[in-house]
Amino acid sequence: MESAMDRQPASNVTEGEAKDEDATRTARKPSMRATPKLEQELASKLRARADATPEFWSFSGRSRREAGHGIFAYPAMMVPQLQGALLEDVQAVDPAVSAVMDPFMGSGTVMLESVSRGLSFYGADINPLAVLLATVKSKVYDPKQLSIVRQRIASRVTEDSSDEIAVEFHNRDKWFRSDVALSLSKLKRAISAERRKVVRQAFWVAMAETIRLVSNSRTSTVKLHSYSADEIDARQIDTIGTFLRISAAQIEQLKDQADALSRGLSNNPDLKIVCSVGDARSAPSGKVRKTVDILMTSPPYGDNVTTVTYGQHSYLPLQWIDTADVPGMRPELLENTRSIDSISLGGKLKGALGWADELQGKSPAFTYCLEQLRSHPTNAQSRFVGFVRDLDDSLDAITAHLGSNAWMFWTLGERKISGISVPTVAIVRDLLASRGARHVETLERKIPGGSKRMAFRNASVETMNSESVLVMRAPCNDDPR
Ligand SMILES: C[S@@+](CC[C@H](N)C(=O)[O-])C[C@H]1O[C@@H](n2cnc3c(N)ncnc32)[C@H](O)[C@@H]1O
Repeated sequence: MESAMDRQPASNVTEGEAKDEDATRTARKPSMRATPKLEQELASKLRARADATPEFWSFSGRSRREAGHGIFAYPAMMVPQLQGALLEDVQAVDPAVSAVMDPFMGSGTVMLESVSRGLSFYGADINPLAVLLATVKSKVYDPKQLSIVRQRIASRVTEDSSDEIAVEFHNRDKWFRSDVALSLSKLKRAISAERRKVVRQAFWVAMAETIRLVSNSRTSTVKLHSYSADEIDARQIDTIGTFLRISAAQIEQLKDQADALSRGLSNNPDLKIVCSVGDARSAPSGKVRKTVDILMTSPPYGDNVTTVTYGQHSYLPLQWIDTADVPGMRPELLENTRSIDSISLGGKLKGALGWADELQGKSPAFTYCLEQLRSHPTNAQSRFVGFVRDLDDSLDAITAHLGSNAWMFWTLGERKISGISVPTVAIVRDLLASRGARHVETLERKIPGGSKRMAFRNASVETMNSESVLVMRAPCNDDPR
């Protein structure tokens, strides 16, 4: 079996900036049957799962992060087994499907589940750390060679007698104790010395996870939140030991990942994988249009700043990783802890309320929620409208990629603003229906363990205990709509 260690990048794997033209190369199978019967078939299949096993979709006790899914604790990751079950059900009902898209790709959960089932994958995320994770998850690594590299990195660290701290950034000493910063500097130098980018990228991910654990930020929230000075002094931190433990566990994960990817590639040697940095609101270029059979995605729950701060969570690791090895990395993304979150969905609120009329014309659920927020501060209304406006913009760009009768699976959470529940599922359903999409089914699931990690600990108004999977179908392109 050829591995990413032997060829870089794997010929069917691309990375970095958007490579829209790749999607056009996917041969389009004969048009999928465009009948409501097929939608009913899928809906009954999905319902049958829950009939056979109550709470099937909650995946309580059955959600495991294996085969590459556990290499980094990215916030609000999907349940791999859930998305896998959805893919299998749609493949059973509609065997012609061949290409999946996730425009809010995050750590690449949908990518790995799709590729291991022989489906091509096109994904993007605005956060370069997410794209690095998905890129590493898309490669077939040779675990034996990774173990040799791990030993080589450990030896380089032991031999490194320099006391130079390898990075400089605002508040570095607030977030890293000096002994930790020195150990991370040695690790950075040792990983940088590796010749092959694809190998360095795997170890950067192990270093990113190490940084999450050894920095002065608490791990209980995804927002940066420092320990007290006393706590920092008292912490027992073995930075190099943590890295070696994490990289050993990661190699085990990448072994299973290689098996999963190889399974998919042997079923479909022509499949493509594209993981790129991109804004879901950007219109696709040229011929990429209308080639995707399955949209499977999970957009942010609301603006990143007050819900899940993906950018802030990535800020410290990104300071230490060589920029050239992070797809789409630009210095301005690290100007401050909020830079990535402020360019994400709902990140800019200026003039947001001016969009309310247009959105009211598309979504009764939006209108209902805005009415409820009218007696609340303008800022709460702006947060709501600004996010929905950005989501609506992204739907223009996303639906432009979808083939005739493409299937859509939206994993959605409902957050609160000023104590008012935002009916995200109903809003997305309305916005898609205004573009001619048909509703197939909505699955409700409890989030095992109570809730997802959000920006603030114990912020009950911001915490979610359940989420939904909204299943829709894109219009038939031949419809005289
Ligand atoms: C709920 S997470 C996706 C998690 C992913 N499904 C997983 O399993 O890891 C939402 C993602 O949307 C990304 N995002 C936010 N605004 C975006 C935008 N305008 N364009 C593309 N991605 C964006 C965030 O960086 C985050 O990774």
